[in-house]
Amino acid sequence: MKKLTRIAPLALALVLSATAVNAAEKATPLPRLESRDGRHALIVDGAPFIMLAGQVNNSSNYAEPLKAAWPVLDAMHANTMEVPIAWEQVEPVEGRYDFSFLQELLDQARAHDKRVVLLWFGTWKNTSPAYTPAWVKLDNARFPRMKDQQGNDHGVLTPLSKVTMEADRRAFVKVMEYLRDHDRQNTVIMVQPENETGSYRVPRDYSAEGNRLFAQQIPATLARKTGKSGTWEQAFGKQAPRAFNTWYVASFVNALAEAGKAVKPLPMYVNASLSGPSNVPDPTGVASGGPQWDVLDIWKAAAPAIDFAAPDIYDRDSGNVIQYLDKYARPDNALMVPEIGNAREFGRFFWPTIGRGGIGFSPFGMDDTGYFNYPLGATRLDEKTIAAFALPYATVGSIMRDWARIASTRPTWGAAKPDDGSDQSTTLGDWKITASWGQWQFGMKDWTWIKADPTPWGAEPVGGVAVAQLSDSEYLVMGDHVRVSFSAANGRSDGMIVSVEEGTFKDGKWIMSRVWNGDQTDYGLNLIDRPQVLKITTGFHSGKQR
Ligand code: DGJ
Repeated sequence: MKKLTRIAPLALALVLSATAVNAAEKATPLPRLESRDGRHALIVDGAPFIMLAGQVNNSSNYAEPLKAAWPVLDAMHANTMEVPIAWEQVEPVEGRYDFSFLQELLDQARAHDKRVVLLWFGTWKNTSPAYTPAWVKLDNARFPRMKDQQGNDHGVLTPLSKVTMEADRRAFVKVMEYLRDHDRQNTVIMVQPENETGSYRVPRDYSAEGNRLFAQQIPATLARKTGKSGTWEQAFGKQAPRAFNTWYVASFVNALAEAGKAVKPLPMYVNASLSGPSNVPDPTGVASGGPQWDVLDIWKAAAPAIDFAAPDIYDRDSGNVIQYLDKYARPDNALMVPEIGNAREFGRFFWPTIGRGGIGFSPFGMDDTGYFNYPLGATRLDEKTIAAFALPYATVGSIMRDWARIASTRPTWGAAKPDDGSDQSTTLGDWKITASWGQWQFGMKDWTWIKADPTPWGAEPVGGVAVAQLSDSEYLVMGDHVRVSFSAANGRSDGMIVSVEEGTFKDGKWIMSRVWNGDQTDYGLNLIDRPQVLKITTGFHSGKQR
């Protein structure tokens, strides 16, 4: 008996320390965004990660419809699901929280070996308060709406209300607390506070308080960031109402992000409803306040707790898509496409996204709940449509960690077949790299001595490529429905491809599986319909070995 009492504390200590070890084993390093020399990496489990995601439909944030999403994500070779969690769902009664869906989501995601990006649908969901709880929606005395110029209520909640912000923040912080306490393994890798913020038609709150603030000098932080000064109108002219609303929306969202990060500092980003890639938008024709490309500096100044802003792309014009990617890929803004249409033709834009150092990509509406948001996306998620995302995802997925590591430190380039089918090229180091489309793997388009039918994919909106320059003489190439050709830049005629290896990476090291030569290289490098990763070694036969 005596012995037992002496052993018991020891046994208890052992049990306790074993529990602690188990818990510690489950915990992984916190995901974070790392930016260096103008390049960005999303760090997950301690190493760079590319988010190959699909976003579910808006109302799939319940246990049953969620089950209809995993097979679609599996078919796409996705590693991450973007999924909403709604304020109305978490806090249906004020002060009473329900995290049953969040736990269900964590459980299902873990069972399906996927990571999660959580979308907080709160004060703004496509600008609307539709996802706020009824006690918020129905009490506009306490949670006021924006006023239009005539003094009428607009549909959107005002960003000027501290009461609304604090209520939204309380619920958001509870979500982050739940993640802190129940997601030590960081199944959730990123959080998007709010969804497509701003306000359509009414560019700012014209309430008495709104007018009072609008007449003031712009905040000092904003003045420093933009080099502007004076009142909103003096500083921003015609865009003043929009700049004003942007500042207050961004400050509101920042308050959520800051408080959420104090609980669990996951990367947080905001998404933009876009309004044209080159025009400075009419303040009444855009989601005024949202993080569109031309107001990113205002967002950066007002919302330092937000890691980056991201474009939701539903524009099918290839030139516009590329412009959007360029606008959001900035040294101070990591490129990530949190939404893009799920029609087949959007799949090819994965390549220019990662070619610009993009850290993630996610077509919208990727579940089998029978809902399709055509004309923004697909009319059906048939096999061909899913394949447009599955092929690039499978290719990059096969070397995901390696591509993420390389792209965060080395020059990269990517292109998609443009609407006019023209060749796309760039110069990386000593080499000009050209992507052309719709060609058979063998032979040249301009051959007249033999007739050839057009390729079945030649008239279709498919084709893309991504290239990384590994060293002065080596390049990594991936893509689909593309011919990639290398020619020495700067008019040199002594350049040659020394070798083309197909292979993969193992433990960060290149492993060659075969050498491409002969027909496989005589007519460019033709990557068509299967995941293939190539490493090209170039050289100069006149001696300068680069
Ligand atoms: C963009 C929004 O962010 C999504 O939630 C969804 O409404 C799509 N538009 C369109 O279906």
